[in-house]
Amino acid sequence: EKQGFRHFMLKEIYEQPGVVRTCLEAYLNPDWEANQESPIKLGLPEHFYQDLEQVQILACGTSWHASLVGKYLLEQLAEVPTMVQYASEFRYAPPPITANTLTIGVTQSGETADTLAALAMEQQRRSGKTSQYQARLLGITNRPESSLAQMVAQIIDTHAGIEIGVAATKTFVAQLMAFYFLALDLAYRRQTLPLERIAEIIAGLRQLPAEVELILESQERYIEELAHEFNETQDFIFLGRGINFPIALEGALKLKEISYIHAEGYPAGEMKHGPIALLDAKVPVVAIAMPGSLYEKVLSNAQEAKARDARLIGVTPKDVPQATEIFDDLLPVPKMEELLSPILTVIPLQLLAYHIAARRGLDVDQPRNLAKSVTVE
Ligand code: F6R
Repeated sequence: EKQGFRHFMLKEIYEQPGVVRTCLEAYLNPDWEANQESPIKLGLPEHFYQDLEQVQILACGTSWHASLVGKYLLEQLAEVPTMVQYASEFRYAPPPITANTLTIGVTQSGETADTLAALAMEQQRRSGKTSQYQARLLGITNRPESSLAQMVAQIIDTHAGIEIGVAATKTFVAQLMAFYFLALDLAYRRQTLPLERIAEIIAGLRQLPAEVELILESQERYIEELAHEFNETQDFIFLGRGINFPIALEGALKLKEISYIHAEGYPAGEMKHGPIALLDAKVPVVAIAMPGSLYEKVLSNAQEAKARDARLIGVTPKDVPQATEIFDDLLPVPKMEELLSPILTVIPLQLLAYHIAARRGLDVDQPRNLAKSVTVE
């Protein structure tokens, strides 16, 4: 069943180009320009879009990280103010309800107890209100037969196929795709982006499967070798900014859950407000630096870490001389506009976590204390 891979996690990492391709086929509307329709076919009813003023996203763990990327996209592309809440926190301190809010539950398994309970609560407290308050409940899930799917009015099926490794990889990338589609659909309907810009983003999305393949082909051996150098490492810091800040969080979560190494993800600009005190030669720092609006800023944050003797690992395109000088090790990714880069930058971080854990001889697919579906509170 592992088809020659040592672990399901590695097999699932390699399934990602195919997953992205399936998502593109399922949701892109090839005739959108000719027919003057939305570029994205989500099959959502009209009332989903009417007078939409706000989005509220509820999730846990890796799905919460995908939701943070979703917030970035919904706000920056479709201009919809978006909140992202941990389902376990929302349940006990829900913000006041507002009319015209779309609530989205994001869960790959569709069975996470806290996410289901938070959605049930949201449905319940809206039920007695006017139609303006009606719960627009949307699920983003990989399991169209799950409890989540039965609870919400509509789902976006992320089409990733069953994931066996406890650490979410391909389902995360598929959730990101769902958010690109939702944000583009809303941007089109709300006319927040010029059509040429929408076409440009779609062209970029279409390149992703081949680019992910390229990273897997060209980087895996190198990352496997690099992993040997962290046999004694006890702490890691992951830095990113903007749309890649949630990827820093995700890189840290992947590493801690399967390798049991303490890891923290931080927005790079926050380093100097505390975490920089942790740094010395024993704490490697992984910085995601994609050319774009925050590139120089991330590099200068990385340099601050280097000045504290940290070993610097850069997730960055290869032939940018400035980056090659700063970083001690490079996990190169193809050049890609910042907006679309999370689908690429997360791949080397998954491989790094995988190889560090595999090298330590750990049970990568079933890490201690963790379960694939967290069906208890
Ligand atoms: C991380 C991981 C967990 C899950 C979390 C939510 O690799 O697998 O953090 O992301 O338990 O699970 P779902 O998405 O099934 O609600």
